[in-house]
Amino acid sequence: MSNRIKELLERNQAWAEDFEQTNPGVFDSLARQQNPDYLWIGCSDSRVPANTIMGRQPGEVFVHRNIANLVNHSDLSVLSVLEYAVNVLKVNDIILCGHYGCGGVKAALENKEHGIVDNWLRAIKDICHKHHPSIEQAGSESDKLDRLCELNVKEQVRNICHTSIVQKAWMEGHDLAVHGVIYGIENGILKDLEVTTTSIEEIETIYHLYES
Ligand code: CO
Repeated sequence: MSNRIKELLERNQAWAEDFEQTNPGVFDSLARQQNPDYLWIGCSDSRVPANTIMGRQPGEVFVHRNIANLVNHSDLSVLSVLEYAVNVLKVNDIILCGHYGCGGVKAALENKEHGIVDNWLRAIKDICHKHHPSIEQAGSESDKLDRLCELNVKEQVRNICHTSIVQKAWMEGHDLAVHGVIYGIENGILKDLEVTTTSIEEIETIYHLYES
């Protein structure tokens, strides 16, 4: 066995023993069911681990991560996660989390080819194009990047709200809130971007899929 995988398994063993010791019976209870409070949709960036930064244990957060925390309407992966979290797990809060200094958002700002990922990041170029004046006014290159990181969070919150999954849940009276937050890698702090949406009336009419 390679040393790398050996070390990984050793660390896992130590963690599992420690976790069971501080939370007796935790694995028995987790094996029976999961009952997470949150659906977290965040960036794949290794510095933004959902459970750790929210101070949550296994079983407490249902997680989907991809490059630049995008919610695209043709992405079966994120839509399946959303459907399961809302319809089966019945979470009450969906957290869309971006982060400052996001490499994916930065790549989308560049006039450069990066590979397959450019197809994925195209959605961010569209946001950049849509909000061009406000991004230009941000000032330095890093301020522009941070402004686009925030705009991207807000756009993805809207995308979540525009899905039939979320709108149907609202129409059926499910207590469901969609939040947009952004994480500071330099200080570990989550900031609420105050775009929390809790009903169909709060989204633009053209996107309504049901008569309210
Ligand atoms: Co990122």
